[in-house]
Amino acid sequence: MGVFLAERLWGEAALPPGGSAPLCPVLSGPIPSRQSPAFALSGPQLLLWRLPMKFFVDTADVAAIKELNDLGMVDGVTTNPSLILKSGRDILEVTKEICDMVSGPVSAEVVATEAKDMITEGLKLAKIASNIAIKVPLTWDGLTACKAFASEGHMVNVTLCFSAAQAILAAKAGASFVSPFIGRLDDINLDGVELIDDIRTIYDNYDYKTEILAASIRNVNHITECAKIGADVITAPPAVIKAMANHVLTDKGLDQFLKDWAKTGQKIV
Ligand code: E4P
Repeated sequence: MGVFLAERLWGEAALPPGGSAPLCPVLSGPIPSRQSPAFALSGPQLLLWRLPMKFFVDTADVAAIKELNDLGMVDGVTTNPSLILKSGRDILEVTKEICDMVSGPVSAEVVATEAKDMITEGLKLAKIASNIAIKVPLTWDGLTACKAFASEGHMVNVTLCFSAAQAILAAKAGASFVSPFIGRLDDINLDGVELIDDIRTIYDNYDYKTEILAASIRNVNHITECAKIGADVITAPPAVIKAMANHVLTDKGLDQFLKDWAKTGQKIV
């Protein structure tokens, strides 16, 4: 997640003798202003750092994905065996339908527990479409399969991550995404958001490329906290994404405006 690295870079930038423009250690020259086109065009690292948090939808409900996708709200999709069950659909069929609709990564999860069988399943899932991210559990076998998939250029989402130590292993195994589960940690009175923060710190310390995909999101506050920390991606159920638009004062304010407008007797069209 670039913004925070960029901030750190700015903080560490050396002042040239007698000058006030900070020098950028990456660019070996003055740091362009944040607003200037030069900042965005300065190089791949800076471009990467400026990527906004991505929104994945955590569902296999095609209609719900379509509604959000039509609004440009969907950067990717995550599914899991429970969500496939809920959809009542065949995994290969529904995943293909989702991949045809959404251009970003679509996670499809293996169900085997041994690396060899995970690899067989994962390669079959990867054949569905080029935007499949093969999802494997954060077990030793899952990490073994992750390494094999990543070596062949497949996107991998390592799921069921509940500790920073696990997240380090996912990064070392070449995962494209690691999915720490916020809600399920909260469910057992641990702090899911704190785990996102810890992984962010560790990944930034060593510039791990694995993206933090905050999962098991149960409410709007989880999303806001992830954005403040700098998670690369959040995946949330459609209802939680839609709930981001809600505020009691918005409803109250709109109600008052409409009442006052009615009293004017005017019409706009
Ligand atoms: C996503 O990849 C996860 O499978 C999902 O977010 C889990 O969410 P839950 O804990 O609400 O089931």
